[in-house]
Amino acid sequence: MAAGTLTHRSRLLPALIVLLAMNLQRAAGEEPFTPLATGFSGQIAAGTALFLPSGLTLETMPASLALLQRPRPSGPLVADYPLQPAFSRSGSRSRVTLAVPRGTSLYGTGEVTGPLLRNGRTIALWNTDNFQYEADGGRRLYQSHPWVLGVRPDGSAFGMIADSTWAAELSLGDGIVFTSDGPPFPVIIIDLGSPQDVMRGLAAMIGTIPLPPRWALGYQQCRWSYHPAARVQAIADEFRRRRIPCDVIWMDIDYMDGFRVFTFNPSEFPDPRGLDGYLHNLGFKSIWMIDPGVKVDAGYRVYNSGSEGDVWVHDAKGAPFQGGVWPGACVFPDFTRPETRSWWAANYREFMAQGVDGVWNDMNEPSVFDGPDKTMPRDNWHRGGGVLPPGPHAQYHNAYGMLMARSTREGIAAANPAKRPFVLTRSNFLGGQRYAATWTGDNASTWDFLKMAVPMTLNLGLSGQPFNGPDLGGFAGNPTPELWGQWVAMGVFFPFCRGHAVKGSVDKEPWAFGPEVESAARIALDRRYRLLPYIYTLFYQSSLDGSPVMDPVFFADIRDAALRAEDQAFLLGEDMLVVPRWADHPHLPGGIWRSVSLVEGDRGDKYQVDLKVRGGAIVPLGRVIQNTTEESLDPLTLLVSLDSRGRASGRLFEDAGDGYGYEDGDYLLTSYQAETRGETVVVTTERAEGRRPRPNRTIVIEIVTESGTFRGSGIDGQPIIVPLHQVRT
Ligand code: NOJ
Repeated sequence: MAAGTLTHRSRLLPALIVLLAMNLQRAAGEEPFTPLATGFSGQIAAGTALFLPSGLTLETMPASLALLQRPRPSGPLVADYPLQPAFSRSGSRSRVTLAVPRGTSLYGTGEVTGPLLRNGRTIALWNTDNFQYEADGGRRLYQSHPWVLGVRPDGSAFGMIADSTWAAELSLGDGIVFTSDGPPFPVIIIDLGSPQDVMRGLAAMIGTIPLPPRWALGYQQCRWSYHPAARVQAIADEFRRRRIPCDVIWMDIDYMDGFRVFTFNPSEFPDPRGLDGYLHNLGFKSIWMIDPGVKVDAGYRVYNSGSEGDVWVHDAKGAPFQGGVWPGACVFPDFTRPETRSWWAANYREFMAQGVDGVWNDMNEPSVFDGPDKTMPRDNWHRGGGVLPPGPHAQYHNAYGMLMARSTREGIAAANPAKRPFVLTRSNFLGGQRYAATWTGDNASTWDFLKMAVPMTLNLGLSGQPFNGPDLGGFAGNPTPELWGQWVAMGVFFPFCRGHAVKGSVDKEPWAFGPEVESAARIALDRRYRLLPYIYTLFYQSSLDGSPVMDPVFFADIRDAALRAEDQAFLLGEDMLVVPRWADHPHLPGGIWRSVSLVEGDRGDKYQVDLKVRGGAIVPLGRVIQNTTEESLDPLTLLVSLDSRGRASGRLFEDAGDGYGYEDGDYLLTSYQAETRGETVVVTTERAEGRRPRPNRTIVIEIVTESGTFRGSGIDGQPIIVPLHQVRT
């Protein structure tokens, strides 16, 4: 397809924007950016356009790490396409500028400090090990997402991908300005009817999360570090003894032998298989940490086998680069090389055979304690291979964690082909949700960090990474009981739900803060476990189309300007609204939202969030269980909140919870419907998909109304009639 598909008017606009930007630079004393014409523009999907600066063609554009596949234009850009990026250049730096309509609300941009609404913010894209988000004023954290979501006043929305992994700055002043330290890059713009549509459009470009194993949605307990093995067992025992639900115990770095990855400390963890077996018997899964730095040690098999294949990142002179991390001097796998990725993946075979259920990749910005800016020199050299060209670290730094997570995922999938892999990574890049879930790094046990966790988790979700969450309770420092209680009460509604603690801090398990907070934690976690069928259904949907799991409140009414900056309250899917106790005059959506109780004592407890269900929704609930190996769906409860016409509907996805049977139809996706008929509500199965047989089980119906909750029950698959004039609580 030839260049020149732009109309005259739309050509003029980018040129004006660039001129404006040039003047600004002159004023700031920077070398000016000079315009670079758009060489190509074309349609690649509904509402989605690819723009290439002159000099790049469809054939010569670089392979993308963010995109699922190389964009293939289906035709020229429609003449009135409303958004036109303007390219420009200054020396080795490249820029794209996008004017946005007045009144547009901007979101996304990945893992960011500050509020949900990003207008007026500037961030740096340079993955950084940023303890307590202190470095560079928190303008850069562990991940990079060159992506902005814009929502116009009328609720229509658009998004922009700047497809470059190079170090960059993203500035959201009057418009969107993305300035890369590298060569000119492709830009993709998605312009659709709503932010929800744009998120699905983004997923069509960068993919979705793979459906996680169901256990990964349970509560997870971590600390740096539980050791020795007996301490891990004691923690697991304590959860079961106190009947506080939990699915996973995490092993931080101290399980290793001198911080050598893929080894176990012979005196503290002499029998990892035995420990994993112990945890499995109690219904826990185990997740063990693996960092990228490999200790330089001639007596260490991982170092030796890697050195034989020269899998390491090189320095500018061509020798394996060495930098210090936990074990002392380390070398670092060059994950741009297919050979390195296969070598890395193969290391997991024996490791996973110890009964390991999931892997935690940390320090993979990469963090190098004695390196410049706490990482590798920018002129270190990656050799690439396959579709990836060789290039300096400045080019691949932001993709290092993503490539590591990808290789880890491949390794654990190969080691356990019948199971769904679970990887948690600290560093990642746009599109990296295809390989790993994430947490938001080293936050702290303070109220500010608690509050910041909401917009941060939301914006990551609005950047294509729905499976994320903060260290509950805060990582660094010692929380007060009040803070930890509030944090867990809110955090159980985050997609990723794990408590963690820095070395040397006070105990931060749910029972560590006295009986009142322990009881609050139990109630909060019981609430999450009751909601797991709903949460799992949200994850299933997200794996299909990229819908975020945790949504900003404005998703409930995209035209309501008052909701655009709300970042204390949040939505869990479309149907549940979470209003934390500490929220100060939150802006909540109009329409019917009814407060609900999920477990005894939750309404009266001073820590629990106000949980509201949307009028018109049916939310599937399970029983309170201690972990996801227990059967929770008999009885299945349907929480019904009728709309103004007396109707409601909702869905439940169920399958084996692990493995890939669901891909061959071994699942059941049921749409339930409720309708008011006279003085009764009739709940029916409207539609079912999948060939998993419907379990022979009881359904309990709870109809929440302003005058109390009406209950009824029946058999799943048959109509259930609930009178609205009887037993209510
Ligand atoms: C840094 C990580 O962010 C933290 O979660 C972990 O506990 C420490 N590294 C030790 O491995």
